Amino acid sequence: MLAAVSDASDVLLDVEHLKTYYAGRRGSGAVRAVDDVSFQIRRGETFGLVGESGCGKSTVVRSILRLASAHAGEVRFEGRDILAMRGRELRRTRADIQAIFQDPRASLDPRMPAGDIIAEGLVVQGKLSGKDRRARAAELAEMVGLRPDQLRRYPHEFSGGQQQRIGIARALALRPKFVIADEPVSALDVSVQSQVLNLLTDLQRRLSLTYLFIAHDLSVVEYLSERVGVMYLGRLVEVAPARELYENPLMPYTEALISAIPGRRAGRERIVLRGEVPSPTNVPDGCRFRSRCWKAESICAESEPQLRQLSDGHWAACHFAA
Ligand SMILES: Nc1ncnc2c1ncn2[C@@H]1O[C@H](COP(=O)(O)OP(=O)(O)OP(=O)(O)O)[C@@H](O)[C@H]1O
Ligand code: SF4
Ligand SMILES: [Mg+2]
Repeated sequence: MLAAVSDASDVLLDVEHLKTYYAGRRGSGAVRAVDDVSFQIRRGETFGLVGESGCGKSTVVRSILRLASAHAGEVRFEGRDILAMRGRELRRTRADIQAIFQDPRASLDPRMPAGDIIAEGLVVQGKLSGKDRRARAAELAEMVGLRPDQLRRYPHEFSGGQQQRIGIARALALRPKFVIADEPVSALDVSVQSQVLNLLTDLQRRLSLTYLFIAHDLSVVEYLSERVGVMYLGRLVEVAPARELYENPLMPYTEALISAIPGRRAGRERIVLRGEVPSPTNVPDGCRFRSRCWKAESICAESEPQLRQLSDGHWAACHFAA
């Protein structure tokens, strides 16, 4: 099942039936963190991924980066399955796919000056001489809005926003094609969030990057993404062009998420979800959302709705979505 792209030649990343489970605690079943997820990302676009805490967003990221081992499915990058890659092919592909994480402080080595952190990937790949590496680090620093003379400083001497800029420069050092940003501004002060988001948008344009962008904040995702996927309990439940998704959500869970965005409720009731998300070690039969869904009927317990295309590029997994 391909969620939403018709022209295959355009596709940079193609995730097909991805399943990544973690070992559960003794006595409980496996944690079905990502449970049969398929989506595609076109070259040059930003694909946003949203959903409540624990729904599996970071596990999708970790699976693509091979930091978590998927046990089923494929992740094709430029047509080749990353999950089956070894050796040199894997190393080369790793240079093409870079990530920016939520907590810049935790992801920067406190003992390394910023310039060395930015140039680390160039050292590992053995690409440039020392002098050329320093020149490239200075170029990258300017690109992300830092001054080259700041490169001798250590991470703790920078603000949170500046630390995230270092993380972004490091991600760009090997001239990647695809950048995954997993909650890149959630740990930052609200006042600097939009600066970092604007930087990401600007870099995308200048460097023809493709983004997978993950955030809790739905308005941030809407602002940056061309298309958005909504996850619930390890599954994608809706995929649509951003504007369409926000104006016309078809799956009740998405409806509830969007109704909770301040300023989005004009003429719409806020839908307050009752109950907890079920445990991913004990996924309900039928529709995973049914324990919280106000539209549930008996068929929802009997069969799991699959993503269906309901209008151009708009896919939803609900028996009653039309
Ligand atoms: N290493 C692990 N071992 C066991 N379970 C894990 C592990 N990592 C994540 N999980 C579980 O897998 C599920 C998905 O976690 P994941 O981190 O992918 O969610 P997320 O959508 O990124 O959440 P958040 O928005 O809080 O970052 C959660 O139930 C989580 O508790
Ligand atoms: S399939 Fe049923 S339970 Fe699931 S979202 Fe649709 S109405 Fe709700
Ligand atoms: Mg996460």
